[in-house]
Amino acid sequence: MCGIIGAIAQHNIAGILLEGLHRLEYRGYDSAGLAIIDDQGHVQRIRRVGKVKALHEAVAHQPMIGKIGIAQTRWATHGEPTEQNAHPHISEHIAVVHNGIIENYQFIRALLIKRGYCFTSETDTEVIAHLTHWEQQQSGGSLLEVVQRVIPQLSGAYGAVIMDACHPDVLITARSGSPLVIGCGLEKNFIASDQLALISVTNHFIFLEEGDIAEVTRHKVDIFDKNKNSVKREVIKLQLKYDNGDKGTFCHYMQKEIYEQPIAITNTFKNRFKYDSIYFSELSNADNVLLSQVEHIQIIACGTSYHAGMVARYWFESLSMIPCDVEISSEFRYRKSVVRKNSLIITLSQSGETADTIAALRLSKKNGYLGSLAICNVANASLLRESDLAIMTKAGIEIGVASTKAFTTQLTLLLMLVVNIGRLHHMHVRVEQKIIKALKVLPTRIEQILSITKDIENLAKDFIDKQHVLFLGRGDHYPIAMEGALKLKEISYIHAEAYAAGELKHGPLALIDSNIPVVVIAPNNHLLAKLKSNIEEVRARNGLLYVFTNIDTGFTNTDRVKIIFLPQIENIISPILYTVPLQLLAYNIALMKGTDIDQPRNLAKSVTVE
Ligand code: M6R
Repeated sequence: MCGIIGAIAQHNIAGILLEGLHRLEYRGYDSAGLAIIDDQGHVQRIRRVGKVKALHEAVAHQPMIGKIGIAQTRWATHGEPTEQNAHPHISEHIAVVHNGIIENYQFIRALLIKRGYCFTSETDTEVIAHLTHWEQQQSGGSLLEVVQRVIPQLSGAYGAVIMDACHPDVLITARSGSPLVIGCGLEKNFIASDQLALISVTNHFIFLEEGDIAEVTRHKVDIFDKNKNSVKREVIKLQLKYDNGDKGTFCHYMQKEIYEQPIAITNTFKNRFKYDSIYFSELSNADNVLLSQVEHIQIIACGTSYHAGMVARYWFESLSMIPCDVEISSEFRYRKSVVRKNSLIITLSQSGETADTIAALRLSKKNGYLGSLAICNVANASLLRESDLAIMTKAGIEIGVASTKAFTTQLTLLLMLVVNIGRLHHMHVRVEQKIIKALKVLPTRIEQILSITKDIENLAKDFIDKQHVLFLGRGDHYPIAMEGALKLKEISYIHAEAYAAGELKHGPLALIDSNIPVVVIAPNNHLLAKLKSNIEEVRARNGLLYVFTNIDTGFTNTDRVKIIFLPQIENIISPILYTVPLQLLAYNIALMKGTDIDQPRNLAKSVTVE
């Protein structure tokens, strides 16, 4: 994961590097570091454990001045989050920042130790610094030539920026699996893992392609492909806004993002309802012809996005009659799977940079799918650029690591896609109209649910001392139970599991005692009677139940059964609506426990390593 940045200019670049790091913090926040080459031609470095703020304070204390520099915010893969393991890593006059994993680092490390190098960290990255130094000592050449000799010796997926105090007028950057973008300025140029890091200094970007190595000076950018051929990559002008705003009256970004869901969904609707149906301006006539040929859908995603895919499977099969499978990207990419005839691969990702999902998409291209469609929330993300078709959710930037509005807008968009594809497959107009009618009231229904927060706040205290929580759901609400459990474990650190309620008696019932809370998602649908039987099974064992349900389901509160009634709910959009109280529940429990809600321990917003 990790966010990396490099800058070269005529003026001091320390401030730019630090500001960029703050914007990259969503990629990791366990330690951070910065190195510059000062006016005497020496590499100066400061590293700190913790968030970028700690590094910022250290630099304020001990100013760093230089016209060329690199920096990183880390999410530890190799070696604990300590100052010694923090980047940049240095080998005499060479400094390196890196995002990703060098898979053969142990072999290279052993080799370099034999050659006399001393390692000061447990990281895989340090081998890049020493190997660059070794290659330079052995055969010399420009920093570009040296790095071009180093890169073929490394395996894994990574992006790196390298600088050398002996060549203080150039940065070299190499992309192999992890995204890298160059920001172009006047008499200054920049490199980062994400253009967001650079939007205060430029709006002109070059996206490097796989295998590219770039030589970046103040005046120009030269790019070479993996065969060392000079290549041109388009300069793209982007008007990006970094809208992290402030939290306003909210205590956390996650809370703000939960409350933004009605507007995020309204934005996702924008210009997509036309002539009583749903159309996506991103899809051309040719794209719709392709979609009309689809006989099977394969959804690929990770984490929360995977849960959205699981709900979509119920929708695709029951509403548009198209067979659909869903798989976790990290499983799909290493499995030999049979590709169904005329199968469309749909990748779901908030960030569009999730390494496993990108790898799964790349694999699918070799396997004879009819086409690929990406659903993302971040413009220009790798997944969008590499897919045949792309549709954006319009949730706006999501800062909280725990995904909330990105999930509900994914679900909204997927339901809209069900209509779009369903229409091309002769979905009955009555079904189409029913879905559209339900979708249109969705923002209002969420607002109604957000108005019962007091009830949910009151529940939170029951959970703060618990070690385990069980979530149960059935049908298209089973993935919502999974999402509720994921939210809870992510931000409160309470172990939570979700089960399809019908599975209870096949094992998890053994967990039930008077102490473990069981959260049940019980909408008033065709599975309610079945779910009521499952609730009785828990009750009979003195279980502690928290039942989220509709007003008209006939549940009553007892000592050991707390009922949380939700306002009126349309069945089709019910999975989207039931998500909201579970987000609020997790949020309030975490709030009472005092965890770092927006940046929970050990996690990062964008998972760019496998
Ligand atoms: O950016 P993506 O949607 O591809 O990310 C996938 C998961 O890493 C992400 O959903 C993760 O599970 C969230 N932290 C969940 O809240």
